[in-house]
Amino acid sequence: MKTTIAEVHKHVGEEVTIGAWLANKRSSGKIAFLQLRDGTGFMQGVVVKAEVGEEKFQEAKSLTQESSLYVTGTIVEDTRSPLGFEMQVNDFELIHEAVDYPITPKNHGTEFLMDHRHLWLRSKKQHAVMKVRNEIIRATYEFFNEQGYVKVDPPILTGASAEGTTELFHTKYFDEDAYLSQSGQLYMEAAAMAFGKVFSFGPTFRAEKSKTRRHLIEFWMIEPEMAFMDHEDSLQVQEHYVSHVVQSVLKNCTIELAVLDRDTSQLEKISAPFPRITYDEAIQLVKEKGFDDVEWGDDFGAPHETAIAESFDKPVFITHWPAEIKAFYMKPDPKRPDVVLCADLIAPEGYGEIIGGSQRIDDMELMEQRYEENGLTGPAYEWYLQLRQYGSVPHSGFGLGLERTVAWIAGVEHVRETIPFPRLLNRLYP
Ligand code: 4AD
Ligand code: MG
Repeated sequence: MKTTIAEVHKHVGEEVTIGAWLANKRSSGKIAFLQLRDGTGFMQGVVVKAEVGEEKFQEAKSLTQESSLYVTGTIVEDTRSPLGFEMQVNDFELIHEAVDYPITPKNHGTEFLMDHRHLWLRSKKQHAVMKVRNEIIRATYEFFNEQGYVKVDPPILTGASAEGTTELFHTKYFDEDAYLSQSGQLYMEAAAMAFGKVFSFGPTFRAEKSKTRRHLIEFWMIEPEMAFMDHEDSLQVQEHYVSHVVQSVLKNCTIELAVLDRDTSQLEKISAPFPRITYDEAIQLVKEKGFDDVEWGDDFGAPHETAIAESFDKPVFITHWPAEIKAFYMKPDPKRPDVVLCADLIAPEGYGEIIGGSQRIDDMELMEQRYEENGLTGPAYEWYLQLRQYGSVPHSGFGLGLERTVAWIAGVEHVRETIPFPRLLNRLYP
């Protein structure tokens, strides 16, 4: 019977066949240990000379790394492996022999591994990170579907900038200029006026010349937008959503978190509500932590965010930022118009900002004023103004960066390992 490694727990004591690749192997004179992987997981296959005979045993010993096989054997429990099972191999059939697979069990440098990303994805750690990513995506759809959100897909080719013009990817759109989307937000606001609560999930692009462990040129963003919800309502959605995602990974990725050696006690603490501090308080905090030169009106860099996060064991919201350093569409605080009703969510353990969100300006006149201040004119922006003209309502939304969230939950140092094929400043291949 054909099965997969993920399903072997249903076949203890039975003989099964699995299509697999040879990830690694060890052998002595009488016994060979095949590290098998089939995409669904990793499992050891034990080949005993006395059981399979001399010829088959020699064939097993000569198998090369990443050769593909059909392996047939009996599933037995094995408490030492994370999977909990192994196979006593009775027979195997070589499908394709791999010669000189470039990624050997020895240590390779990151550049070499990135050049071989198309193969590196097969390795145990990368496999685990992608499975965590997949679980975060699954839990995201689950959360928003259960809460009655409608998924709406904004365009990727756009005529306008949502977040600021410096990091736009320019392209030609026949005779016109176009840009790859930095954020679907403006479209999601239109969608919220049509469907109430909406979310998007898609690729976004930023031509940022930053080479940090938190920046990608192409990254995936989840952007919920909610009509009739204010800043505070939005923070509650955010903390419940992030908690749901973390708890789902803890529940459904136990093997992967073990492979990644993730300290799960840090993740177990993640439940709503999350602490909130204002930008003013955050400035105080970083000053106390030794950053004397930080002044009101400055944006925080990675070291500041890490210093702030150190004071909390959950993600922390930094709210009420100076209007001058935030996007044009953010609603000013009626009690204090120099700050806006927004928040960045900073992940624990130094992973930095994972969410940016705000309440949006819903007043037509104020939005027109912002257009003027920011030089936003032309057909690419006119339609967005009309959302304030026809039945404008208080509304809020946010964007969660998928890769930074994966990095945090999986405990991976650099975002380049959290996306299958990263686009970096110096990397367009593979
Ligand atoms: O804070 P940002 O720029 O917010 C927006 O784009 C809003 N329009 C979202 C909204 O309200 N609908 O980006 C949101 C998140 C960040 O918090 C970060 O997690 C991620 O997107 N992000 C990046 N991730 C990887 N590489 C980059 N270059 C990123 N830039 C932003
Ligand atoms: Mg931001």
